[in-house]
Parts: sequence; structure tokens; C-alpha cells
Amino acid sequence: MIKRESWATRLGFILAAVGSAVGLGNVWRFPFQVGQEGGAAFLLIYLFFVFLIGFPAMLVEFVIGRGSKRNPIGAFKKIGYEKWKFAGAIGVFTGFVIMAFYSVVGGWVFRYAGASITGAYFAEPAVYFSSISTGYGALLFHAVFMLFVGGIVYFGVRRGIELAVKFMVPSIVALLALLGIYASTLPGAFEGYAWYLSPDFSVLAQNWTSILPAAAGQAFFTLSLGMGALITYSSYMNKDDNLAVDGASIVGADTFIAVLVGFVVFPIIFTMGAVPGEGGPGELFVGLGGAIAELPFGANAFGLLFFLAVFIAAVSSSISILETIVSWLIDNFEIDRKVASVGISSLIFLAGIPVALDMNWLTIFDDLAALILLPLGMFFLVLFVGWFYKEATEELSKGMEGSRIVKIWLWHVRIPILIIIGMVLVINFNSYIAEYTGIDFIEYVLSIF
Ligand code: PFF
Repeated sequence: MIKRESWATRLGFILAAVGSAVGLGNVWRFPFQVGQEGGAAFLLIYLFFVFLIGFPAMLVEFVIGRGSKRNPIGAFKKIGYEKWKFAGAIGVFTGFVIMAFYSVVGGWVFRYAGASITGAYFAEPAVYFSSISTGYGALLFHAVFMLFVGGIVYFGVRRGIELAVKFMVPSIVALLALLGIYASTLPGAFEGYAWYLSPDFSVLAQNWTSILPAAAGQAFFTLSLGMGALITYSSYMNKDDNLAVDGASIVGADTFIAVLVGFVVFPIIFTMGAVPGEGGPGELFVGLGGAIAELPFGANAFGLLFFLAVFIAAVSSSISILETIVSWLIDNFEIDRKVASVGISSLIFLAGIPVALDMNWLTIFDDLAALILLPLGMFFLVLFVGWFYKEATEELSKGMEGSRIVKIWLWHVRIPILIIIGMVLVINFNSYIAEYTGIDFIEYVLSIF
């Protein structure tokens, strides 16, 4: 039996989980999702999902991880519910799908850090983005990104992650705050804030079948939920701390950073006269890249620092994804960590090739992960913990003995969360079927009334 690693301290665990949560999901994915889904109404639903669904769902993963001290597939056998290991298997598969596109975007970020030194994107941000985002260059940087991530997991996670996060989170907040101050001086600032913060409920009424699942998907994605990454991280806990406090800190930090990104990006977009969301996956690079280029001084240094911080955030999130797959190979098959890291990183590189060569694949992979796989994985984890895992409340109670929260949590997980995630899945499957067959069941049923 290979000896399992564990976190050195409680703070180590929290930082690692924050490192997993804070990543491209906050800085890259969040702004274009808000843009595409119509702004403040989406933001509101997103916050609802983060706090009322995401936070308790995070505790679901923690309870399985700490209770079993195993990877998401091995966990179920260890705690005596082997039949449920398919839920963990969905997670491990999801990890592949996410990493395949995440690494390509991570490669773009790395390239932008370098391009900030030379100022390559300063003159024509949109032209630069389209020249580097697909093709052999993108493929090369996808490889570079995977090399970083694979390299860290190869050496074992503990020191690398704890160190990276201690440095990364404060620098991202500081740089975003500076950019936010700068953005507030731009002529489009007020329009940007208004669009970002004043919800138009008629948009929600009209587009709820798209806003609801997109907000749920973004909440799961940004909090690293639904694929067992947090089962893996909490399986390395060796003390029984209060999980609710840990979870609240992680959710708080992640949400703070995402919301802050909005305060930077939307003033810039309105100042540029662009339409939020239209930039799609390029929104951050073209929008922010353009704004950095216009900074009154220090644009090169600022761009370098900013993209480096985002790069570190992307790496620390990727580590949690790769580690989830690798820990399964180590726990269940006793495969050497080094062999597993190199093998899985190479497979992910291969899976990412279509994404690097054609951006349509990025959307396909991303939608599949956020709209189908993460909610699906989460649905089964919630079903399991709510209704089948008898020791769940006992596990959550450790470190918070006698707290009423435990009971409230259990019933919240059992009914409302299960129904809402179930609904999200029904809507998403329906949209998929509608897209490929033209048959929209929900629309048909609604038309009856
Ligand atoms: N939460 C990460 C981000 O916001 O970039 C992405 C992610 C990490 C998703 C780990 C899922 C996961 F299991």
C-alpha cells in the first residue's frame, strides 16, 4: 500500500481548495458568461446557485472525501457503498474533458504573459488574439501548460500548491483592484456598472431556460464542484475541523474574485463600445488586453504581472483536476505517481489537440463539462449523501458537534438541492436534444398551457 499524503495544516487545505476554485473560471469564463446571458439577472441567479446550492454541495464532497480518505472512485468502496462508484467515475471522466480545453486557454494566458513584455498585443488586441488562439502556436502553448501542471503533480502536491496559492490569491486581488480603480476612471464605467448591477427581470423571464443552467454550470465550474476534485482534496485532511467554516471561506474567496473581475471587465467593454458577451472566449483577452495596452504607464509590467497571476491561478486549479485522476490510479492500482502523472498529462494533451486547432471544440468541450457532466456528477453525489450515506451527518458533525446546521443541511441536500439540480439537468438534456433533433419537449409541454 502506498502511503497517502496529507495536508500539513488546516490553512494548507483551505488554500489548496481556494487554489482549485480560483482559476480561469473566475477570470476568463465568468465575464463572458455574464456577458452572453444578459448581465445582472444572470449575476443574481449565479449568486443564488453559489450560496444556496454550491456551498452545501461543497460540504457533500467534503463529507465523502474526509469520511473515506480516498479518491472519488475508491471512496465509495472504502465507506461500504461500492455500487455508487460510477458517480466518482463520471467525475474522473469530466476531469479529462475539462483539462483538455482548460489547458489550451491556460496556454493562451501564458503566451499573453510573454506578449506583455514585448507588447505584441498592444497595437491590435483582437487581431493578436485571433492569431494566437488557434493553430500550431496554440498547440505548443497547450503542451507547455500541461508540462507545468504535470510537472507539479509529478513531484507531489503539498508544497507546490500551498506555496503557489499563498502568493497567487493576494496578487490577483491586488492587481484586479488596481485595474478596477483604473477602469472606474474610464468614460464607459458608469454604463458598465449599470449593466452589471441592475437586473432586468424581463430578460430572466424570457431566457430562463438558458440563464438558469448557465448560472448553475458556472457556479459548479468556478467552485470546482461535481467532479470530485474536492473529494480528493478533503481526503488529504487528517484532522476533523469544522467543514462548514472551511467551505464558507472557500466559497467567499472565490465569489469575491469573480465579482471583482466583473467590476474590471464591464467598464472596459462599454468604454470600447463593444457588446458584452460578443467576444466569447476571447472577451477577457481582447477586452482586458486592450485596456492594459492603454494604461498611462507601466503597461508591460502590469500586463506581465496580471497574466502571470492568472497563469498561476489556472495552474493551481488544473493541479486539482489532474490530481483527482492521478490519485485514483495511485489508490486503486498502486501505479507510481510519476508514471501516472506523465501518462495522464500526455493523454490530456492528445485530447486537447482538436481544441487548440479549432475553437468550436472549445465550446463543445466546455458546454459538455459545465452543462451536462458537472451537474450530472453533482446530482449523484447529492443523491448519495442525502439519501444513502448513513454516516453523512455524523461526518459533518465532527468539528461542529451539536450544531443545528447539520440537520438543516441534510434536509436541504435531500430535497431542494436535488430537485433544482435535477431540473437543471432536464433543461440541459432537452436543449441538447433540441439542438440536434429540433424537438423541444419543454417548449411543447409549455405550449399546452
Ligand atoms: N474551479 C476552477 C476554475 O474556476 O477555474 C476550474 C475547476 C477546477 C473545475 C477543478 C472543476 C474542478 F474540479
